[in-house]
Amino acid sequence: MKKARFSTTIKLRGGSSLTVRAAGSGDEDALLAFYKELPQDERLFLKDDVTSRGWAERFIERIQRGEAASLIAESGGKVVAEATLYRATHGWSTHVGELRIAVARSWRRKGLGTALAGQLLHLGADQGADKIVVEVVQDQTAALRTFEKLGFQQEAVLRGHVKDANGIRRDLLVLANDVSHIWAAMEALVEDAEFERS
Ligand SMILES: CC(C)(COP(=O)(O)OP(=O)(O)OC[C@H]1O[C@@H](n2cnc3c(N)ncnc32)[C@H](O)[C@@H]1OP(=O)(O)O)[C@@H](O)C(=O)NCCC(=O)NCCS
Repeated sequence: MKKARFSTTIKLRGGSSLTVRAAGSGDEDALLAFYKELPQDERLFLKDDVTSRGWAERFIERIQRGEAASLIAESGGKVVAEATLYRATHGWSTHVGELRIAVARSWRRKGLGTALAGQLLHLGADQGADKIVVEVVQDQTAALRTFEKLGFQQEAVLRGHVKDANGIRRDLLVLANDVSHIWAAMEALVEDAEFERS
């Protein structure tokens, strides 16, 4: 996968704007600070321990190896959202990308999650991905709605695949869509975001 290096301004619902740029070497501390502030119950639904320095270092290495592209949205020098597109560099699923998105609570419901997903879908398509998947834990209503509105559909359910903070098993839903199918829904949704690529 080609390394993405770009910077974009996104105008959000309500009038605020944010700079979004590709994450890379040197962003470890900012990413850790962001993920440490995410509510614990939401962090538990992410596959990795995103609060450990080891994770941050391995994550940046994956970006440098071309296995992941990460966008960070910043306000006042702080990361307020992060979105990643993972791509296998070899094997039978190199045409498939996997998305993960997290937005700080105070920045939600302004269209930021949708805009970041839109940016990564463009990037995935640019880089040759045909299909994008996202894993969402049962009851993550915000995530389900965000991706469904972008045209994702449920493709698989892994029963009891995730244990929450109380040890209760929850289903993991795999949502998927072809990038070509995503375009129409995405462009309608993010047309207000006024991307200014620099
Ligand atoms: C999922 C998430 C990224 C959405 O970010 P966001 O910036 O709030 O998303 P948007 O503002 O673009 O919302 C998109 C749509 O999702 C739906 N939605 C978002 N939050 C919702 C909520 N709490 N309840 C119901 N619907 C919700 C709405 O339909 C919304 O569109 P609308 O505001 O025009 O009605 C954010 O809630 C988050 O970081 N959650 C924790 C991490 C996570 O679950 N990540 C996804 C798994 S990878």
